[in-house]
Amino acid sequence: MVKLFLFLLCFLCFNGVSLGGDFNVKDYGAKADGRTDDAQAFEDTWKAACCSNGPATIWIPQGTYLVGPLKFTGPCKSVPRITMKMEASVPKLGYLKAETDLNEYPTGDWIFFGWIDKLSIVGTGTFDGQGASIWHLNDCQQNKKCKLLPTNLKFIAMTNTHIKGITSLNSKNFHIGVVDCKHFKATNLKIIAPGESPNTDGMHVERCSDVIIKNTRVATGDDCISLGQGLSNVFISGIECGPGHGISVGSLGKYPQEKDVSGIIVKDSTITGTLNGISIKSWPSSPSPSTAYNITFENIIMNNVNNPVIIDQLYCPSGNCPNQTPSQVKITDVFFKNIHGSSSSEVAVILHCSQGFPCHNVQLQDINIVRSSVGAPTRSTCMNIKALYSGIQVPPPCS
Ligand SMILES: *[C@@H]1O[C@H](CO)[C@@H](O)[C@H](O)[C@H]1NC(C)=O
Repeated sequence: MVKLFLFLLCFLCFNGVSLGGDFNVKDYGAKADGRTDDAQAFEDTWKAACCSNGPATIWIPQGTYLVGPLKFTGPCKSVPRITMKMEASVPKLGYLKAETDLNEYPTGDWIFFGWIDKLSIVGTGTFDGQGASIWHLNDCQQNKKCKLLPTNLKFIAMTNTHIKGITSLNSKNFHIGVVDCKHFKATNLKIIAPGESPNTDGMHVERCSDVIIKNTRVATGDDCISLGQGLSNVFISGIECGPGHGISVGSLGKYPQEKDVSGIIVKDSTITGTLNGISIKSWPSSPSPSTAYNITFENIIMNNVNNPVIIDQLYCPSGNCPNQTPSQVKITDVFFKNIHGSSSSEVAVILHCSQGFPCHNVQLQDINIVRSSVGAPTRSTCMNIKALYSGIQVPPPCS
């Protein structure tokens, strides 16, 4: 396997090796006319940059580039000394427009990055998934064998990545997927799709460590940010979320052998008009046990959120979970601190833990969530939990 990989790498880099520098997609044949498929130009540019012997910058100047699925993979020849940068001409990065013919997306990805060390993607460019034309084909709520629609940006097994400033627009499915990465940083992003678009989660991260997501605006049809199994040391702040389904840990416990989740901090964020606010979700009948622990939500403002604070260990969005057994995901050491704002429903705090593994050490401190419709009260509901309360408590704790 390793041998094959090295061979491929040498083969890719066989034709001419430069000393790094600038690589402009237009020099590699990109038309940027919004009609011609420019994928080959991007792949050739990547090849040249990835094979170069020095810091490389790929420039995508202003324009509309029509591209189908693109794969940018490493390891690059320059690693580990070299930083790969994918950058735009100032002031405006290119505009990547996805092809809409679904047959062109055999792997369920649009723009794919894998096995690259020290990649930065910076600029003000837009990745437009053009999802509106095919969202009606997403029937995954009803159909278990549904065709997976492509994710706008997928990052697999990356190390030391930084994406900054770019926009992900109208993804066909998830906007940004991050899996098996270490030291992944996303800052100042804009992630945008209509509130009713199906499964357009803003950012989904799983099996990663040392993740930072900061100062990012997410308006979409599903979770703004979802944090899946196998995560550790995740720091999220300055998120503006809504519409969408909020910021969630989970859903967990769906598949066998899921890894623990720990060390999550979500703070200084605003959530507006969403289904959930901050949530921890796990499926019933989980095939194997895992733990989610040391999770903090702090300084969060809720504006007219349907379920502002929610732990749901009976998560079953399709309503089709027969013969349930209790979730085997153990939730411990969870802190909700300084959560203020308004709820569009009466039940502002839901703490529904697993009957098999009751939640342990869940603390709520200074919670003040009133009803959006003035004058109506809010309340809490609890199952299989003895939460610890301090400071202001609106709604009042479960009795
Ligand atoms: C909880 O997680 C945070 C963030 O990763 C970390 O800084 C802190 O040390 C952890 N606390 C414990 C008790 O492990």
